[in-house]
Amino acid sequence: MLIHTIDEVREHVKKWKKEGLSVGLVPTMGALHDGHKSLIVNSVEKCDKTVVSVFVNPIQFCPGEDLDKYPRTLEEDNNLCENAGVDIVFAPSPKEMYGEGHILSNDFLTYVIPPYFYVDKLCGKSRVGHFDGVCTVVNKLFNIVQPDFAFFGQKDAQQLIIIKKMVNDLNIPVEIVACPIVREKSGLALSSRNKYLSCTEKEEAVVLSKILFNIKACYNTGIVDIEALKDTAYSLLNENHDLEYLEFRDENDLSEKEKADENTRVFIALKIGNVRLIDNISLKH
Ligand code: PAF
Repeated sequence: MLIHTIDEVREHVKKWKKEGLSVGLVPTMGALHDGHKSLIVNSVEKCDKTVVSVFVNPIQFCPGEDLDKYPRTLEEDNNLCENAGVDIVFAPSPKEMYGEGHILSNDFLTYVIPPYFYVDKLCGKSRVGHFDGVCTVVNKLFNIVQPDFAFFGQKDAQQLIIIKKMVNDLNIPVEIVACPIVREKSGLALSSRNKYLSCTEKEEAVVLSKILFNIKACYNTGIVDIEALKDTAYSLLNENHDLEYLEFRDENDLSEKEKADENTRVFIALKIGNVRLIDNISLKH
């Protein structure tokens, strides 16, 4: 069922809760692919009712980013959700989410600001304010849907860690379920932004997962020195790859690692043409 208003969602959820049913939420920005589908399947299996939100959240896009051209495919998204057993697809307008005249600066809107330590690194460094927008909208979605469980992909690992921190710090009564990255056969992690890649760029994009798998294989042979592990990446890069970061960070709090260990997650971001891609891998055995 496709719903556009907060009131209608609330009505359905209220009824479900009265019946003692559990509710799962899968927050998305639409352009759904198999990565989203795995989140949805997890929710449908675990929860009595599943709500998928489809909302291209303007306040998490930085100036100059792809807000206007971000793929919007609501009809296909709704079909995918219906076939997967989703109960509600919640697709609000920006006006429904942020109000009449929706002035989206933090002079006029209450924001949820995650701790600086979590956002001054990795994607937060180049996407200033991005995680404020994510935490604000996710918080709103939690308040609207009041889910028992919410499902997020490990593809956006920094986002996932920040959301877990927010839920813990603000005592939000929801359990965050982390779902593994879904990859193409080539290793490329699924992402809505892969749609921007040309065929040759898509072949180039395999380098992200190659670097990560290579690092993990080297770590598995006993190499824990981070510079040595990083060196294995550089031979895979060429002039078509504009590396933004390759970092070894703690799985739980994103602090920098001195040596690679079981709690390390390796994060990479690079640009191919105009498309910025991210990926990551846990070094846990
Ligand atoms: O990961 C995303 O698609 C978005 O950041 C999210 C969590 C749906 C918030 O807009």
